[in-house]
Amino acid sequence: MSAKAFVTRRMTFSAGHRLHNDALSAEENRLLYGKCSNPNGHGHNFTVEVTVAGDIDPRTGMVFNLRDLKKVMTEVVEDGLDHKNLNLDVPAFKGVIPTAENIAVVLWGLLAGRLPPGALHEVRLVETENNFVSYRGG
Ligand code: NI
Repeated sequence: MSAKAFVTRRMTFSAGHRLHNDALSAEENRLLYGKCSNPNGHGHNFTVEVTVAGDIDPRTGMVFNLRDLKKVMTEVVEDGLDHKNLNLDVPAFKGVIPTAENIAVVLWGLLAGRLPPGALHEVRLVETENNFVSYRGG
């Protein structure tokens, strides 16, 4: 019997960012991003939910060992992003506007490279209580 399941682990991190497109004027940035374009940035307590998918291994009863997922997420999320300024401190955001959408995409790339091929199903980035983004590759 093969049964496909989805396993999710959640992790929080605090980080600062500024939404700003260098190709636009100050006024255009203000109209587009509002306060999020303030020159000195602002912070969020982000939550990221990482979902892996696969068949349940009959030997272990698991899709993926959560201990291994936790290790990968600690490297990528906690060590890589926590208490950083995304614009200035994190090389993966060089030239990337760190919107919630782009944070999800960047996290996908960093996580996918450390997980077995095809295991990663979704990265969900929660920026505020009411705003979140899901990315499934592609
Ligand atoms: Ni923000």
